[in-house]
Amino acid sequence: MKWTVAVLLLHLLHNIKCEQSYVVSNEKLEPFEGDSETLVIFNGLKTVGRERALNGSFKFLGEMNNDDFKVSVELYSSPNGDGDFKRMVMDVPQTSICECFKKFYVQFVQPSVKQGETTNFPLVDEDFCPIPEGDFYIKNILFNTDDWPQQVPRGIVKAIITFFNAGKNVGGLIVVVKIDDRQS
Ligand SMILES: *[C@@H]1O[C@H](CO)[C@@H](O)[C@H](O)[C@H]1NC(C)=O
Repeated sequence: MKWTVAVLLLHLLHNIKCEQSYVVSNEKLEPFEGDSETLVIFNGLKTVGRERALNGSFKFLGEMNNDDFKVSVELYSSPNGDGDFKRMVMDVPQTSICECFKKFYVQFVQPSVKQGETTNFPLVDEDFCPIPEGDFYIKNILFNTDDWPQQVPRGIVKAIITFFNAGKNVGGLIVVVKIDDRQS
């Protein structure tokens, strides 16, 4: 009986404490322009070094309020990494921009950066809105995946992040990452 409890506890601790069972590496960043105007500029972002850290700058040309601006994220997966992409079910439909930052920037990006050190983008919290205008930098960051979902597909995953103003595409970024099982 005691033994069972100990095993259960260990199991629980393992799940809480342990690193994710996968590693993520940046394959490619591809900024794109808006339909008639571009308000978000990501072409200063690059992957650098052997570890393919994210580095560089991005620009928001104006403040983006929660009523007019939305963001969508389309996700595609190529399990064999051969470029044969299938749409994933976890897409994010056009969502008000501040909600999007509070949900997705906070979960997927913010744990990987340090304000004032590896980024000058402000800390996103519950009251963060509108999204500020500005020139922002990211210095050599690797993704900290501790807050990422436990279940992610292996292979190549492509995220198409599109910004909208009053329903019109105003630019965005395609992020391609490679997800492998962690070698233990
Ligand atoms: C990283 O980005 C900055 C601009 O934000 C640039 O000055 C620097 O050269 C970049 N580093 C590398 C290794 O490309």
